[in-house]
Amino acid sequence: MSEPFLPYGRQSITDADIAAVVAVLKSDFLTQGPQVERFEADLATAVGARHAIAFSHGTAALFGTTYAAGLGVGDEVITSPITFAASANCAAYVGATPIFADVEPVAATLDPAAFERAITARTKAVIPVHFSGQPVQLAQIQSIAQRHGLVVIEDAAHALGGSYAGQPIGSGQFSDMTIWSFHPVKHITTGEGGAVTTNSDALADRLRRFRNHGIERDAARFVQPNPGPWYHEMQELGHNFRLTDMQAALGSSQLSRLGTFVQRRREIVRLYDELLAPIAAVTPLGRLADGQSSFHLYVVLIDFAGLGISRGDVMNGLRNHQVGTQVHYIPCYRHPYHADLGLRTRAGGWNPQDFPNAEAYYDRALSLPMYPALTDGDVHRVVQALHTVLHG
Ligand SMILES: Cc1ncc(COP(=O)(O)O)c(C=O)c1O
Repeated sequence: MSEPFLPYGRQSITDADIAAVVAVLKSDFLTQGPQVERFEADLATAVGARHAIAFSHGTAALFGTTYAAGLGVGDEVITSPITFAASANCAAYVGATPIFADVEPVAATLDPAAFERAITARTKAVIPVHFSGQPVQLAQIQSIAQRHGLVVIEDAAHALGGSYAGQPIGSGQFSDMTIWSFHPVKHITTGEGGAVTTNSDALADRLRRFRNHGIERDAARFVQPNPGPWYHEMQELGHNFRLTDMQAALGSSQLSRLGTFVQRRREIVRLYDELLAPIAAVTPLGRLADGQSSFHLYVVLIDFAGLGISRGDVMNGLRNHQVGTQVHYIPCYRHPYHADLGLRTRAGGWNPQDFPNAEAYYDRALSLPMYPALTDGDVHRVVQALHTVLHG
């Protein structure tokens, strides 16, 4: 009998999760009911923030942050190229220009020095990404941002359950807003879904309106006279980026197991580290000292050129052993959209040689399976398969 396929990431769903969703399906509200508020309160508590605003996707949450920060045409927003393109696209959604600064060589997160070098008179915000779950050097990034009057938006899509300087990621001590994604490969899932957390009342209000067509229902905030109980005002141009109550109930149920999920991910990391140590050609991606990763990904670096084997052949070989892998990420400036945008917004556009650390990382990166349901036996199987594919 062939062994089951191990994807690079996947959700963990229990009967309690299913019961929580079914209870909503039997209730009066499938959307705009009580579950979203409950999930928001649960999330705010989990990450130590004053407000959580749920969104339909992490991408919509990112869009909400650049909108709420008041960014627009002529503004520049700096982020890392080693991220999912949404981290940069949220600048373009509001007409601002995404700018890439190189990553540091250890964990492939935004390099504070490269970030500072990329600042111009037009820079308005920075979006550090806790890539793979590893917290970025937030204190350094915040202090540079403060000196230049920039908004700091943490992309914590990979980092639920992690901590930095003893604070949970999302506490808002080092940033204005933090975004989350609840896609099935993430620490908790709502199917599709996302959120922003913030300690700012004003940003939270703006994010809530943006998520719901720009509509204000609080009579105290109406700008026109209130003619009666039906009245509400569309005060700005928003979207429908609401999360449903089914999704929110799943989110709260999943969140109650976050500690177990992160603990298991850390156990898997320890086992991978131990089993991979004798394989000289494979090095786990490095970790920075002042943060605790919650390990969304387990990335290894392999000198494919030195071994004389292509990454594609390694991935196909592993697939033949029923092991799924992925590359996180193609540097954003290499995507045709961002390459074109770069040519239109900067003299000479983006040149890969200007990003030596991102390029060195991209040449060698491969994400191995990482999710809480992975057994110790599965981890042994992945490492054995990798050894066989690389060394025969
Ligand atoms: C770093 C990062 N930011 C943002 C997102 C966007 O989240 P979503 O897929 O929920 O829209 C993702 C999703 O994969 C991500 O990995």
